[in-house]
Amino acid sequence: MRTTGLFVTFEGPEGSGKTTQLQRLGAWLAQQHIPFVLTREPGGTVIGEEIRDLLHDCAHTEMHARTEILLYSASRAQLVAEVIRPALEAGKIVLCDRYVDSTYAYQGYGRGLPLADLQAITQFATGGLMPKLTLYLDVPVEVGLARRQQSGETLTRLDREAVTFHRRVREGYLTLARQAPQRWRIIDATRAVDEIQTALRDELRPWL
Ligand code: TMP
Repeated sequence: MRTTGLFVTFEGPEGSGKTTQLQRLGAWLAQQHIPFVLTREPGGTVIGEEIRDLLHDCAHTEMHARTEILLYSASRAQLVAEVIRPALEAGKIVLCDRYVDSTYAYQGYGRGLPLADLQAITQFATGGLMPKLTLYLDVPVEVGLARRQQSGETLTRLDREAVTFHRRVREGYLTLARQAPQRWRIIDATRAVDEIQTALRDELRPWL
């Protein structure tokens, strides 16, 4: 399907600061009167937010890796149909906090599920919709996890995974970025918040 808007995704390991940066980018676009939609995964729809609660609930220690991928994909299918495609068709910019690359990094490289299976499920969930640009906020695992703990936010089921899991996730992201350099930009997210914001705006500006 042909879309006219611009689809940009934001990826990163735990504690990369994506959410703060995205809010600021949204404010910057709004100042310029550029129509945009800011959304997130899992979530972004009423159904998706309920799935998010289920996925992140630390009580669900028994959740199987296959259940997990299907739930993330269910949330994604709803978000694509209800929010992302309509916004792109209306010519808007869509900024999405996580998308399919989170599945490849966390369920693929992190959990060890076969990438070919994940690709098939993802294709079904999204109808093949891919972002034009993926901004990856990179932080070493120890830095990211320490930030998450200091933030005072409730830790999710995935935050509680072993450090080795999070290392595989970060390495996975870097591998994915190397495989598709035309779509990915790696942003050093160990820097100050303002510097990271400037770097993100510099990446986005040529597309506006
Ligand atoms: P966040 O919104 O705070 O970034 O939390 C989302 C969590 O869900 C994070 O730990 C990454 C994880 N996740 C996956 O494991 N697979 C996915 O496909 C997505 C979208 C997120």
